[in-house]
Amino acid sequence: MRMKIIGTGSALPQAQVDNSQMAEWVDTTDAWIRERTGIGERRLSTGETVASLAAEACLKALEQAGRKAEEVDLILLATCSAEYLCPSAACQVQAAIGAVNANAFDINAACSGFVFGLNMAQAYIQSGMYSRILIVGSEVLTKMTDWNDRGTCVLFGDGAGAALVEAHEEGDSRMLGCIEGADGTKGMVLNCRSRMIDNPLFHEDREKAGGLHLSMDGREVYCFATRQVADCINQVLKKTELKVEDIDLFVLHQANVRIIEAVAKKLHADLSLFPINLDRVGNMSSATIPVLLDELNREGRLHRGDKLVLSGFGGGLTYGASVLIW
Ligand code: ACO
Repeated sequence: MRMKIIGTGSALPQAQVDNSQMAEWVDTTDAWIRERTGIGERRLSTGETVASLAAEACLKALEQAGRKAEEVDLILLATCSAEYLCPSAACQVQAAIGAVNANAFDINAACSGFVFGLNMAQAYIQSGMYSRILIVGSEVLTKMTDWNDRGTCVLFGDGAGAALVEAHEEGDSRMLGCIEGADGTKGMVLNCRSRMIDNPLFHEDREKAGGLHLSMDGREVYCFATRQVADCINQVLKKTELKVEDIDLFVLHQANVRIIEAVAKKLHADLSLFPINLDRVGNMSSATIPVLLDELNREGRLHRGDKLVLSGFGGGLTYGASVLIW
């Protein structure tokens, strides 16, 4: 059984914040941010939540595909910034859109989450367990960033993207193959603490435990990403017996334009095959790939038969790539 993407959708918060506005909040400049990251502006939540953005993105994907929420079997929601530890954001979305027949749960694989979700959906569909799945990446990272740390707060934005996939027996559109991996030994390179242990027997030391905001070793992340993403794409191409020249578009996690440029160079691929939207929306972790995919889809830049590589990488550290025929 093959998995086919039949609809995409995305949702961004209303508030748009450009680099000059950021410069009023922290000691930075538009030139520094653009030169080091490629980011020009991002969206910030003024009340939109992981669940509300995800629900909006899902409804748009369903509408585009001409399917009803009741027809969905499973909602896989990738996020590392959910409002609640319990219930999952996926269950909140299930309730909000009325997907009364769907199972629902969250995946936390940071910026690789959407690609992992897509790969998981393919496995479920292949096994026959589910046949119509919503995969969503949704983040409100700006509630986790330290607004006094100019090194991180300028990088992130909020938003959500979704893809509706369905089982198909015929046709070319399908996932050809995928690769996934993790390196937990480097986990602290990009970290954010959850709650402290605080029970009658033990009170965790807040100082020792680390901050409750996102903290990042930017150079380590840069080295990991530029090395691992190109390797992982080469591996998935080998597995699917394709060459870089066979690929129509490389849809990469939008962390930093310099990472994307370095990956293109390593693959000896033209940079024009790597669509970029982080100049307008910043780094939205698990939401970057589905938001970009939805933009490309709605702009008519994806044609049935196109070969796409999707690749996510980030916290965990985690990485993954999928090859799809659109
Ligand atoms: N504005 C102005 N100056 C700044 C800012 C800012 N926003 N942030 C840091 N600086 C200063 C620092 O204080 C430092 O000043 P100093 O030399 O006087 O001490 C100088 O700029 C260089 O700081 P670095 O942190 O060394 O900056 P670097 O050149 O490494 O660039 C960056 C930082 C852009 C994050 C880079 O490390 C990078 O590209 N990392 C890749 C990781 C990434 O993009 N992560 C995103 C999230 S993770 C993910 O999605 C996978």
